[in-house]
Amino acid sequence: MPTGSALSDAEFVVVANRLPVDLEKLPDGTQRWKRSPGGLVTALEPMLRSREGAWVGWPGLADAEVEPLVEDGLQLHPVMLSSQDVEEYYEGFSNGTLWPLYHDVVAPPAFHRHWWQSYVRVNQRFAEVVADVAAKGATVWVQDYQLQLLPAALRELRPDLRIGFFLHIPFPPTELFMQLPWRTRIVEGLLGADLVGFHTPGGARNFRWLATRLAGASPGHGRTEVVVDGRPVKLGAYPISIDSANLDRLSRTPEVLERAKQIRSDLGDPERVVLGVDRLDYTKGIDVRLRAFEELLVEGRIDSEDTVMIQLATPSRERVEHYQKMRNDIEQSVGRINGEYARVGHPAVHYLHQALPREELAAFFVAADVMLVTPLRDGMNLVAKEYVACRHDNGGALVLSEFAGAAIELKDAILVNPHDTDGVKNALHAALTLDPDEGRRRMRAMRRQVMGHDVDRWARSFLDALGLPPPEGSHS
Ligand code: ADP
Ligand code: G6P
Repeated sequence: MPTGSALSDAEFVVVANRLPVDLEKLPDGTQRWKRSPGGLVTALEPMLRSREGAWVGWPGLADAEVEPLVEDGLQLHPVMLSSQDVEEYYEGFSNGTLWPLYHDVVAPPAFHRHWWQSYVRVNQRFAEVVADVAAKGATVWVQDYQLQLLPAALRELRPDLRIGFFLHIPFPPTELFMQLPWRTRIVEGLLGADLVGFHTPGGARNFRWLATRLAGASPGHGRTEVVVDGRPVKLGAYPISIDSANLDRLSRTPEVLERAKQIRSDLGDPERVVLGVDRLDYTKGIDVRLRAFEELLVEGRIDSEDTVMIQLATPSRERVEHYQKMRNDIEQSVGRINGEYARVGHPAVHYLHQALPREELAAFFVAADVMLVTPLRDGMNLVAKEYVACRHDNGGALVLSEFAGAAIELKDAILVNPHDTDGVKNALHAALTLDPDEGRRRMRAMRRQVMGHDVDRWARSFLDALGLPPPEGSHS
């Protein structure tokens, strides 16, 4: 990647905790860039490339001092995090306090004042980098829960900017948000934006209530606006999506189709393949689906000779305690199920703790008869949409948690309550025995939704509401 010289004056800037690429230190001491994990990068990268903007974020390694650079026409502006920042701002406040609190406290959040202070400091640092990079009157789009103080900090430094904020995770019920000792500061931080976007109308409603109670905002025009210090702030729901057409195209290529066949043959050509694909996170309900699969085996409702399960899990936040415990639990379950139901050369559950290339992932989606997406709470869940986009044959069945944002759009999935083990078992069994015509009807309906509502449409609707004109050459 070439290093840029005079990189600044960007008219359109995305700011996220992470850059779209991560710097990785290899055992021999050398470094290389790899794609960053998670749905935020999946969604935003194609959009930003088409707009030739700048991206401000952390390169993913503690203490890494990296110069700004240009990659494929995209300006990357690294923000340095010390190992203490990583511990307190990223692993601590972002992922030990906010992540569990905003995901319905499925794990207990920890409240530590020094974590909060680090969150304030790092948000301020991001604001200073953005203030340097953005051209006069530029549009800045701030992403996600790690940077909720940034809109107000940036407005303070650069009142000329147009600022949008989008939350990629659920915004919690007000009762849960009120637990946060720094609740008013967070609400005030977000209100620094001109537009605050959520996945669901419920998230926008909860935030609106808090803005009036905690930050003295008054009602604006209709229910989608509040007024703070005489300045209007728009609120809205913008369900995020994927680059559907590209994934559909990829899933039709001879290489992917061939690879999908190969995967099934490597598995011993079972009648049914069940798949889970997630970041290894305790919100994803990986334990829920393993339990359902195991109980169906125990009860003899499925047979490991003809039904196999694959769980692909990207390593994630490995130094955070809840993540370590969950990884142990999951690996124990996989070991127990295989101990009981595998035979040599024929595991019942295949588990890969690895990040795979897009082509390989597409081949797994094509190869899977049943996709299990069972989060206890999820902002959207892009994996569910990716599976649908890859099923150009209208085949396959999707079992989807009611508590994923995607369930609002994918009503033709087999919807489940992940807290109800019997319900998940029955849903998995129903998916494995689904009438093929009924399966095709459901998949066709889901594909209409996913193909018609892609990430470009999401970005355009957010940026239109923010008042940013479409990029040059756009036909919209
Ligand atoms: P989150 O943003 O919480 O990680 P999403 O489902 O919205 O959840 O997005 C996850 C993204 O990470 C998807 O684009 C998915 O394809 C990708 N992903 C998940 N597991 C893997 C894996 N094992 N290898 C490569 N990519 C993965
Ligand atoms: C989710 C979050 C993102 C985050 C990603 C990966 O998608 O919404 O903000 O980047 O997970 O998590 P990580 O902690 O590795 O950045």
